Amino acid sequence: MAEGKNLVGVDIGASSIKVVQLKEARKKLQVVRWGIAPLPPQTIIDGHVMNASAVTEALGRLFHEQKIQQKDIAIGVYGQSVIVRKITVPIMTPAELDEQIHWEAEQHIPFDIKLMSIDYEVLRKRPEAGQMDLLLVAAKKDEINDYASILREAKLKPAVVDINAFTVQNIFEHEYGLPQDGTIALLNVGAAISSLNIVSKGVSAFTREITNAGNTITEEIRKGLSCSFEQAEAYKMGGGPGQIVPQEITPIINQTCQGLAGEIQRSLDFYLATSGEQEISRIYICGGSAYLAPLTQAIERRARVPVQGFDPMVNLAVDAKFVNEAQLRAISAQMVVALGLSLRCDKERRQWSA
Ligand SMILES: Nc1ncnc2c1ncn2[C@@H]1O[C@H](COP(=O)(O)OP(=O)(O)OP(=O)(O)O)[C@@H](O)[C@H]1O
Ligand SMILES: [Mg+2]
Repeated sequence: MAEGKNLVGVDIGASSIKVVQLKEARKKLQVVRWGIAPLPPQTIIDGHVMNASAVTEALGRLFHEQKIQQKDIAIGVYGQSVIVRKITVPIMTPAELDEQIHWEAEQHIPFDIKLMSIDYEVLRKRPEAGQMDLLLVAAKKDEINDYASILREAKLKPAVVDINAFTVQNIFEHEYGLPQDGTIALLNVGAAISSLNIVSKGVSAFTREITNAGNTITEEIRKGLSCSFEQAEAYKMGGGPGQIVPQEITPIINQTCQGLAGEIQRSLDFYLATSGEQEISRIYICGGSAYLAPLTQAIERRARVPVQGFDPMVNLAVDAKFVNEAQLRAISAQMVVALGLSLRCDKERRQWSA
């Protein structure tokens, strides 16, 4: 799928923007630039940009500071404007499918199809049943156009629009490969959203977004201690040097993590009940909130599935001239979506034109 030059991966998250640029050197992909810029609270709400100038400004600063000249980028989208469905259609040729896909989408997408950008991927052909399984993806054109105009304002050219949950799968596949037997879950717990992608026999079988993530925990600390959001963030992360973290913090964190773990467990249970599968062998967690040990422990206990982080850079080299590897590794769980996006190339077979 990946052909041509790698695009710069740009992940516009609720708490920060992350960028990664890869280049091929000696047959291996190398991180040549990366950066992260915080965004003010409320800049992004449910995947929708509320404060365009904050995003444009942060993007401009990141590209300038990191001296990234390349303007062609891949961005990820998520939230209510994106719908992902697994559907089954009769076996047909790619040309027939291109013709049919809008009709198929109309049956499965609860919005006016003319207002949506549609894309799909063939997951599996089942000739014995005369059927094939597709992953159907629809995103609101308005939303994509909003992103495109913000990016144009920042002098960037979006060449590929991807879905955050699939970028995590892409980088995981690049680093480890996807198990062809059994089922794993990829979980990205960021600031505003936790996204779950269950991968069965090497293909995505179920995705869900839960609007409960790191911000919920920070918000509970803020309310419980009547402090600022920034102070609550610092407490959540164990406090700064010399700072004493009040005793009330631990029970607030534990309780909020229980709530989030419960929601994740319900999604996993739903998947198991509807797919008829027996078990999910492991949950691989990423996103900034993956660093919160009480959260991974709570998910492990609730779901009774081992939870572990993963290294999104085992197969990536680093250009030591420009990249401080230790700094990048220290926050690599937060960089997973940007890394996944940076694997996308400018001459891929099918792209959304944004
Ligand atoms: N060391 C840490 N311990 C606990 N929480 C952390 C740590 N580092 C980051 N976080 C939390 O991770 C979240 C940010 O993660 P991330 O950058 O993956 O989110 P985002 O991409 O900006 O948001 P979203 O994906 O929801 O749009 C914040 O809630 C932050 O408080
Ligand atoms: Mg994110």
